[in-house]
Amino acid sequence: MASEKVYRASTTAPVNIAVVKYWGKRDTKLNLPTNSSLSVTLSQADLRTLTTASCSASYPEGDSLLLNGEPSDVSGARPQACFRELRARRAALEAADPSLPKLSTMPLRIVSENNFPTAAGLASSAAGFAAFVRAIANLYELPASPSELSLIARQGSGSACRSLFGGYVAWRMGEAADGSDSMADQVAEASHWPEMRALILVASAAKKGVSSTSGMQQTVATSSLFKERITSVVPKNMEIMEKAIAERDFAAFAEVTMRDSNSFHATCADTYPPIFYMNDVSRAAIRAVEAINAAAGRSVAAYTFDAGPNAVIYYLEQDTEAVVGNLYSVLSKVDGWKASAVEGLKANASFDESVVGLLKNGVSRVIMTSVGEGPVATQEYLVAEDGTPVKSSS
Ligand code: DP6
Repeated sequence: MASEKVYRASTTAPVNIAVVKYWGKRDTKLNLPTNSSLSVTLSQADLRTLTTASCSASYPEGDSLLLNGEPSDVSGARPQACFRELRARRAALEAADPSLPKLSTMPLRIVSENNFPTAAGLASSAAGFAAFVRAIANLYELPASPSELSLIARQGSGSACRSLFGGYVAWRMGEAADGSDSMADQVAEASHWPEMRALILVASAAKKGVSSTSGMQQTVATSSLFKERITSVVPKNMEIMEKAIAERDFAAFAEVTMRDSNSFHATCADTYPPIFYMNDVSRAAIRAVEAINAAAGRSVAAYTFDAGPNAVIYYLEQDTEAVVGNLYSVLSKVDGWKASAVEGLKANASFDESVVGLLKNGVSRVIMTSVGEGPVATQEYLVAEDGTPVKSSS
């Protein structure tokens, strides 16, 4: 029966890790940031969310989301804002062309899975909301560009707006009060600088203590250092970073990446009461990167930390030995190394004994990945043709 038809569309979406951080909202309802930010999209071969959006007149009333096999609440303001915006755009298409099926009136069933363990301790909200918005936009056949969709994903989670693109991506803070110019754009394709690699040292798989959403609001409200960051530090970092990417200048990329992470965590320490995302293991990772750069005689590695203790270390493929060789020599026992990438690598940096001890005891796994592409539509469905949720085969 036509009324029981299940409409569906699937997409994957990537994780992104910022090198100039988003931290602070000027409008919490519209999720508008106090500063622009810039990130590297990571390869979906290693980290991705797969999401199927489906709708049918036969579904029970109300939209639903199944996340990694568990029902997830979609009544919150953020998913509701995404549903509302996407439905409105579909309804406009249906109004213009009455022959289109009235998908905008049907309940949505969204099923989503990450290919990385939740225990990896990685923020999945960016990939999650990007996939959520992209999948529904595909289902509704919206003629919207990734930048337009980034306006919607931003309202799900700020950092998600950058996961609608591959490569090197900026989120322009914008000026309009209604948020219409606060969106993401691609600074460079992944193929512009394909040698970019990321080694993630997972220092804790625990759920973060203070969420980014609440942490950044506390910083905005109480830190005086934060004002300096948004008015002077970040605008300068954005400018140098865009130039560094355009010129494939890793030394400049590395310095801004490390300085911006330090600046962001300094504003956290200046929040009252202070917020600490980095721990002793994170600081040992910083010392290790410094020792690696000292041994190489130039910047071959750059660390950055989000709202948690995990270190993300950017480096170029040609410097794999200088970077990975040294970290592998200390952490060869932990899971996650790609045999083909670490085979035969030698170590030359001298790490402090305390640094070695902290890393050995505190790093539970590593993830080796690289710059990658944006969301990709796929024929792999997490909702069967009859509307039943199914598990991913990968
Ligand atoms: C430290 O995007 O998680 O990772 O907009 O409240 O959902 P909400 O915050 P979220 O914050 C990410 C903060 C960060 C820096 C970054 O990704 O730019």
